[in-house]
Parts: sequence; C-alpha cells; structure tokens
Amino acid sequence: MMRHFLRDDDLTAAEQAEVLALAATLKAKPFEHQPFAGPQTVAMIFDKPTLRTQASFAAGIAELGGHPLLVEGKLAGIGHRESVADVARVLGRQASAIVWRTFEQSRIDEMAAYAGVPVINALTDDFHPCQLLADLLTVQEHKGTLAGLKVAFVGDAACNMGNSWALAGGLAGMEVVFGCPEGYAPAYGDAAVTTDPVAAVTGADVVVTDTWISMGKEEEAEARRAVFAPYAVTSELMAHAQPDAIVLHCLPAYRGSEISAEVLDGPQSVVWDEAENRRHAQKAILVWLEARRHE
Ligand code: NVA
Repeated sequence: MMRHFLRDDDLTAAEQAEVLALAATLKAKPFEHQPFAGPQTVAMIFDKPTLRTQASFAAGIAELGGHPLLVEGKLAGIGHRESVADVARVLGRQASAIVWRTFEQSRIDEMAAYAGVPVINALTDDFHPCQLLADLLTVQEHKGTLAGLKVAFVGDAACNMGNSWALAGGLAGMEVVFGCPEGYAPAYGDAAVTTDPVAAVTGADVVVTDTWISMGKEEEAEARRAVFAPYAVTSELMAHAQPDAIVLHCLPAYRGSEISAEVLDGPQSVVWDEAENRRHAQKAILVWLEARRHE
C-alpha cells in the first residue's frame, strides 16, 4: 500500500526504528539499495529557502540511482498558477516520488491525496520530519540508544521543529521536555513544558535548539529576540545538563542568539554529523516508502 511521510507520526514506533536502522545501514553501505536505478526521477520542490535539504536530497537520490529533479517553487506557482491537485497529478506522472518544502500542512496533504506516488515533507510550517530522522540517527550514533534519554528542547518550540520533536521523540521513547516562554509550546504531542530553561535542561542527555526566527517570521524578529533572550543555549545553561550531553541544531544557526558560538563550535556540538545524517535518513525513508508501494 502506498505510504507518505507528511508528519512524524505517519510512522509507527516500530516503523521509525526500522527506518533508522536502514539509515544506519545506508550510512555504512551507501550503494546497498538502488530503488531508483534507471534512473527514475524524484522531484524536489522548495517554496521556502533551503541549503541542507536540497543538497542532501539531491546527493541521496543520486546515490540511490535516481535523478533529482529540482522544480522551482516560484516558477510553478503551486496553488495560484495552478492548483495543488493539478500539480500533484502532473508531477506524479513524471516522478517516482515527490519531496516538497512548503507552508501550510494542508498543501502537502493535498499533494499526497492526488500525486499517486509517495510524497515526503521536506519542512512545512507544522513539521520537519526528515530533520527528526536525522536527529534521532545522530543521537543513536552518539548515545547508542534513544529510549529513556532525556531531551531538552530550548527556545521556540511553537514551530515545525518543536512539533516534530514532540511527536518523533515520543515515538522513540524519549523523555522530551520543552523549555520555552509562555505561548511558545508545541501544538502537537503531549510532552512536558516548562518556562524555566534551567529546569528543562537539568539532567538532559540531549539539548536541542532552533532559530528564534523561523522562515516567514522575519517581521517579528525584534519582539522574538526579546521574548527568547533567557532561552539561549550557552555554556552556563549547558552546565545543568549531563556532563556528556550532546547539542543538536538543525541549522542555520545564529551564534549569539539561540546558541552561543562557544557551544555551537564546542566539543558537545554534533551539528555537522546531524547535517550529514540528513542524507542517510532521507535515503532510508525514500527506500522504505518505495518498498511499501510494491508490497
Ligand atoms: N524552524 C526553522 C527550521 C529551519 C530548518 C524554520 O522553519 O525556519
């Protein structure tokens, strides 16, 4: 049965573990699976800025034997030049899968309903599930396990990354605690929330943060910097975490805002592994979804 990856909980806990194991295999043996050898085309569309996502999907699709096709979001004008459903029908006839970074979750839900091929969320306003697969793979590599670890997500949790950590961290059996100002808790999942960043970080094995000014929130930049100032991930804050805690950031990072340069560039930071792991994790979800189509 055809499956999509539109939000973190589109995978069950067991399926998430399966995809992460596949990602680890693909990291060790990059050419182990060639589902798109031919090459078949995989379409990628970006309605918002990108660096890691475009690069890691393009490289990963090529390693899977496929051809990455970049569809310019601005040129396609999806939803105004033509409807999401019509774009889905057209691209579904050209490509074996569609990877899309866009705004409202309803847009990618509609793409999935009409495409006839697997659709992967490469970030929406609500979720960033590919990033979470990479984050979990990174934690697993550095800590040897996921279940039972304490994760502190500090800063703006009312965004795609906060929502995805609430869902995916829960599926992985982690204890996720959000340290964020009043009104900035995730909208999904049932993770613990505190307004005290020290309480959130105390005893944490993993500390996560994200930009305070997500794409599209630029007009609120000044107000956000004021609201989030007490939630910066600094060496002082890290002193409350486990001594061997690791620090994740999906990037781009703003040194001196949500994270200090000392922490981001310091020994506890695993952000470059995390960025690399986007490729391995996304290859795994592509292989996994492609296999489900033929079951
Ligand atoms: N929350 C950030 C994530 C960037 C990868 C944003 O949406 O801009």
